[in-house]
Amino acid sequence: MSTGAQLVNLVAGVCFILALKGLSSPKTARRGNLVGAAGAALAIIVVFSAGADFQRVPLIVVALLVGSIIGWIAARRVQMTQMPQLVALFNGVGGGAAALIAVIEFTSAGATESTVAVVATVLTVLIGCVSFTGSIVTFLKLQELMTTAPVVLPAGRFITSAVAAGSVASAVVLIGSPSTIMLAILCLFSLTLGVLFVLPVGGADVPIVISLLNAFTGLSVAASGYVLENVLLIIAGTLVGASGTLLTQMMAEAMGRPITNTLFGAFKASTATAAGSGEERPYRSSSAQDVAIMLGYAQKVIIVPGYGLAVAQAQNTIRELVDLLTERGIEVEYAIHPVAGRMPGHMNVLLAEANVPYEQLKEMDEVNPEFATTDVALVVGANDVVNPAARDDKTAPIYGMPILDVDQARQVVFLKRSMRPGFAGIENDLLFQPQTSLLFGDAKDSLTKVVAALKGL
Ligand code: TAP
Repeated sequence: MSTGAQLVNLVAGVCFILALKGLSSPKTARRGNLVGAAGAALAIIVVFSAGADFQRVPLIVVALLVGSIIGWIAARRVQMTQMPQLVALFNGVGGGAAALIAVIEFTSAGATESTVAVVATVLTVLIGCVSFTGSIVTFLKLQELMTTAPVVLPAGRFITSAVAAGSVASAVVLIGSPSTIMLAILCLFSLTLGVLFVLPVGGADVPIVISLLNAFTGLSVAASGYVLENVLLIIAGTLVGASGTLLTQMMAEAMGRPITNTLFGAFKASTATAAGSGEERPYRSSSAQDVAIMLGYAQKVIIVPGYGLAVAQAQNTIRELVDLLTERGIEVEYAIHPVAGRMPGHMNVLLAEANVPYEQLKEMDEVNPEFATTDVALVVGANDVVNPAARDDKTAPIYGMPILDVDQARQVVFLKRSMRPGFAGIENDLLFQPQTSLLFGDAKDSLTKVVAALKGL
C-alpha cells in the first residue's frame, strides 16, 4: 500500500476515534456520527484506489449501492422506539458479513495460509456466526415477532454447553487440519450457538444482549482485518469491541446486576410478581383538569420520562407544559434514569430533540434526594424505572435495579394508557398507593389536554 493510502487510512482511523468521542454526549453526537461516516467513506475509497486486484468491480459497486439504499431507507423510516431492533439487525448483518468473508478467504486460500491467519479466520467465522444468529433472535424478540420472555429449553444449559464445546472442538480441529467439511461443521455449531445463547435472555435484558453481540461483531471484524491484512478493519473492530463491552457493562450496572445474571436468564418473569395475577386492586384515576390544578399550584415538580413518552412522541408537548409551569414560577426538573426507554441515552436524545435545556436534566443519583421535597412527580410513560419493588421486594425479578425514588414525592401522577406493566412484565405497587393518581390515555393526548387546562387556570 502506498504511503498516501496509508496516510488516508490513518485519517480514517482517527475519524473513528473522534466519532466515538463525539457520540459520548448528546450535544456532539450528530457531529460524531458524521465524522464516523466520513471515516468509513475514506476507508472505502482507499480500498478501491490502493490498487487492489478486484475482479468484479461492477458487482461490488451494485452491492454497495443496494446496501446503501436499504440502509438509508431503514434509517429514515425507523421510529426512535424501534432503534434497538435496527441496531440488532445491522449488527447481525455485520457479523454475518465478517463470517462470510472469512469463509471465502478460507476456501480460496485454506491450507496455504500461515497458522496465525488460519486462527484469525476460524475465530472470525465462529464469532461472526454467533453474532449473526444471536442478533437475528434478538431482533425477533425486540420486534415482538416471538416471545420476549426467556425461552428455557429442557436441559437447555446442557445443550448450550455441548454446542459451545462442539464449536470450540471443530475450531481446534480446523486449525490443525483445514478442510471444507470441518468449516461447514464449525459454521453449523456456531450458528446454533448464537440462537441458544440469546433464547434464555428475556424481558428487560434483551437490549443489553445487543450491546454484547455488538462487541462480538467488533471482535470478528478485527479478526477479519487480520485475515485481509487491513489495518483499518482491525482498528474499527477493536473500537467496536471495546466500546460494546464497556456499554454492556454500564447497562448491566445501571440495572444493578452482573452481566452473568443477564446472560444466564436470571431475569425470568417471576410468577410471584408477574402482572395480571388476577387480583383487582383499587386505584385513583384523574382528569386532565385535576392534573393541571395539581401541577399549577405546586412549588416543585419533577418530570419522569420513560419509554411511553417516546412511543407517544410527546417530547415537544412535555416541553410546552414545562415552559408553562416555569412561567408560573414553579421549579421543574426532569429525572433521567440510565435505562429509561429502550437504549442508552434514549431520554436525553428525545428531550434534546425538543430543545429541552441540558441543565434541566438531572441524573438519578443527583435527583433522588430531591423527591422528598417535591410536590408532584409526573411520570410520563415510565414504569419499571420507578417501581419500588426493585428496592423493596427481594422476590421481584428487577430487585437490585436502582430506581428513581418517585414514591417519596407528596403526589405522584402517572400518564399511561392502561394498568398494563412495563417492559419487565411485573406489577407496579406504586400505581395503587394513596398518593398516586392516573391519567389514562396516550401521553401526547393527555399532555395536550393538561396544557390546555393549565392555560385556563
Ligand atoms: P417501561 O417500564 O417499559 O414502561 C413504559 C410505560 O409506558 C408502560 O407502563 C406503558 O403503559 C406506557 N406507555 C406505552 N406507550 C404509551 C403511550 N403511547 N402513552 C402513554 N404511556 C405509554 O419503561 P421505562 O420505565 O422507561 O423502563 C425501561 C425498561 O427497559 C426497563 O425495564 C429497563 O430495564 C429496560 N431496558 C432499558 C435499557 C436502556 S439502555 N434504556 C436497556 C435494557 C433494558 P401502557 O401500556 O399502560 O400505556
